[in-house]
Formats: sequence, C-alpha cells, structure tokens
Amino acid sequence: MKTHMTAKNIVLGVCGGIAAYKSVELLRLLKKQGASVRVIMTQNARAFVGPLTFEALSGQAVCTGLFEKGEDASIRHIDWAQASDAVVIAPATANIIGKLAGGIADDALSTFILAVISPVIICPSMNIHMYESKAVQRNLEILRADGYSILNPESGELACGTTGPGRLPEPEVIMDRLLYCLAPKDLIGKQVIVTAGPTQEPIDPVRFISNPSSGKMGYAIARAAAQRGGTVTLITGPTNLPDPTGVTMMRVRTAREMAKAVFDQIDESHIIIKTAAVSDFRPHKEASQKIKKEEDEMTLLLKKNPDILKEVGRRKKNDHILVGFAAETEDLGKNAGKKLAEKNLEIIVGNLVDHPQYGFGSDFNKVTFFYKDGTKEPLAPMEKDAVAHILLDRIVERYLEASNTL
Ligand code: CTP
Repeated sequence: MKTHMTAKNIVLGVCGGIAAYKSVELLRLLKKQGASVRVIMTQNARAFVGPLTFEALSGQAVCTGLFEKGEDASIRHIDWAQASDAVVIAPATANIIGKLAGGIADDALSTFILAVISPVIICPSMNIHMYESKAVQRNLEILRADGYSILNPESGELACGTTGPGRLPEPEVIMDRLLYCLAPKDLIGKQVIVTAGPTQEPIDPVRFISNPSSGKMGYAIARAAAQRGGTVTLITGPTNLPDPTGVTMMRVRTAREMAKAVFDQIDESHIIIKTAAVSDFRPHKEASQKIKKEEDEMTLLLKKNPDILKEVGRRKKNDHILVGFAAETEDLGKNAGKKLAEKNLEIIVGNLVDHPQYGFGSDFNKVTFFYKDGTKEPLAPMEKDAVAHILLDRIVERYLEASNTL
C-alpha cells in the first residue's frame, strides 16, 4: 500500500514525560505506513523508555547525545535535519517548548530542531497547571507564530491525578496531523461532501432494516480529503467510528434524512462522494408500538427510498464531480458500468463482496475504478486509507487539473 507517508523520512523527538510510552505506538504506526523513522531522545526521556525499544522498532540507531557521529563521521543531528520530510515531538515537555521558543540549543533535540526546514509538529503533554501557566502559553504562542504546528493536548485524567488539558493525544490523532502536513494541498477551496455508513429504516421503535456497512471507507475518504485541504462535510448513518479530524459531521439515520442533508448542500459543493450503503427500501409504515409476535407469519410491506445519487446526478452542474460506489456480488464491470451511466457519475468505485478480508467492516478493500470515458483501473488490495488517497489523486488529475479549476 502506498500512502503519503510511504518512504518519507520522519524524525520523532521524544522528551521525558509519562506519555513517552505512546510515542512507541506512534513509531509503530509510522513504520506500518511505510515511513523511515529516526528517533531523537532527550536525556530525561531515557528515564521513561529505553533507547533500545525505539532502536528495535525503528530499525535505526537512536540519537541521544549532541556529539554522536553518523556513519560518515558528520554530526548526526545535522544530517537528519536536512533529510527529514517532517518532524514530530511527542511528548513535548515545558522544557523543550521553552527552549525552542527562546532559540536555545543545548542538547541533540533542541539543536536538531533549529536546523530543520521541514514541518515540525509539537505535541505538548504535561500537568494541567504547567500547561496553563503563563510561561508555557506564551512560549506556545511564540512557536505558533514561528510556524510550528502545535497539536493541542486532550483533556482528561492526567498521570499526576489532576483532570484537564495536558494529555498527549492518541497516536492515531498525531498521525492524522502528520499526514495533514505531508499530503498535497490540492483540495484547498473545494467543498467536499462524503456520505458513509448504513442507513436504518425503522420497522417499530426497537427494530429496523439495515446492512453491515461499517462506514470505514467513507470516513477514510473524508479524513483524506481534509488532509488535502478540502472543506469536508461527512453525512453519515449510524457507525461506531470516531469523528475524522477537521471534518464537519452530520449524523443521520434514514435514507430520507440522508437525502435531505445531501440535497441541501449540492449547490455549494464541488465534489460529492457517495460511499453510503443506502437502504433501497423502508417499511411502508413505522409501527408506533413494538410489534408483537402474535401470528406465525407476518408480511412487511416495503416502499422504495429515494435514490440519492441518481437525483444528485440529475441535478448536477457541469463542474460537479460525482463519485459513487458499487458493491456487487457478480458481474462487477457490467453492474458498475450501468450505475455509472444511469447516475451520471464521473467515477464509480466497484468491488466484489466475495472475499471476507475485503469490503464491509474490513480495513482493507480491493476495488476497481470505472471512469466516465469507459476506461477502468483495478487496484491491488490495500487499506481503505490508501484507496481514499488514490481516489482523490484521480479526481484531481482527471477532473480538477484538467478543467484548470485548481
Ligand atoms: N445510492 C444512493 N441512494 C440509494 C441507493 C444507492 O445514493 N437509495 C448510491 C450509493 O451510495 C452508491 C451507489 O448509489 O454510491 C450505488 O449503490 P448500490 O446499492 O450499489 O446500487 P443501487 O443503485 O441501490 O442498485 P442495486 O441495489 O439494484 O444494485
């Protein structure tokens, strides 16, 4: 799988804080996405996690001192500064924040940062009173003004027993910020609507018709579009997923609620991507009380739901880019091609739901892109995050760049 993290040189700076254990997990996630990671630890960080842990996971020597030599006898932290695509300091203590704000370079990490020209993300993590102190807040303001990207700490119960802001965000959240820094900003100024998840069509107050869609594909697309600078609204049916960073969320339940949310926003949008698995039918009537099992058989009369995508295709203007999804059990090319034409789409992303490892609920998908001009592009099996970025790459290359609307 290729992502915007693949083959990137990331430097992870680790300072002495309880949250240093989370940077081990962050390192693991970075490696999983194909990044080459080098770790610089402060003296105090070594009191919390041993350099060997980072060395084993990164597969590279860890820098712990100012006067270590690289393989070619040049000073390691200067070499790394020049080669880095992005730097993340997690956890960042009050001490490193103060040093960077004052331009002090008295150890490997602070000296390295002064020599870096790539984006630097600073993740403060400390006791709430330290974090809220005038000095730390003043220093963070200076760092923001100097162009550093500050990832605010989360609120919660802290290791010191206090409750409030100071907790290092989860590694996945730090990854999102890193991906945001690395992804091309080719969707700036574009309004993107993504739909995701299943819809639920109530039968009575405790039952409904639905399907096993997890929403993962749509959430991945919304997250990727936000990383690329798009203004993204995610209209989602019920899911168990956390909100993607930087995305406006609209939660709906039924197909009709989803239809209204989409139709209300068509005019302002540039790109509409419909991954939602919309229930095609709803019960003709929703019972106001729980239906009792009095008979051996019962008939449920169903009524067709609006085809949201088809209606958007009918209403769309020339510069709208419309993408649909088709999960099929047979004849993928024929079925996807038919939907592409009938719904007036630029791209339809088709997959065969014949493999338990891909599709509904899985983190992976094996899809084929079918384009309006009749061509198709099968992709290898890969994570949904990677599918999301490749889809956005194609939208940009084929439709935005081609029409010079960027
Ligand atoms: N779709 C929609 N509204 C519906 C049904 C589907 O917007 N009522 C959208 C889906 O979000 C998806 C695309 O249409 O992007 C294809 O959905 P799919 O369920 O595969 O196709 P249908 O048109 O419902 O056709 P069928 O169920 O007969 O295969």
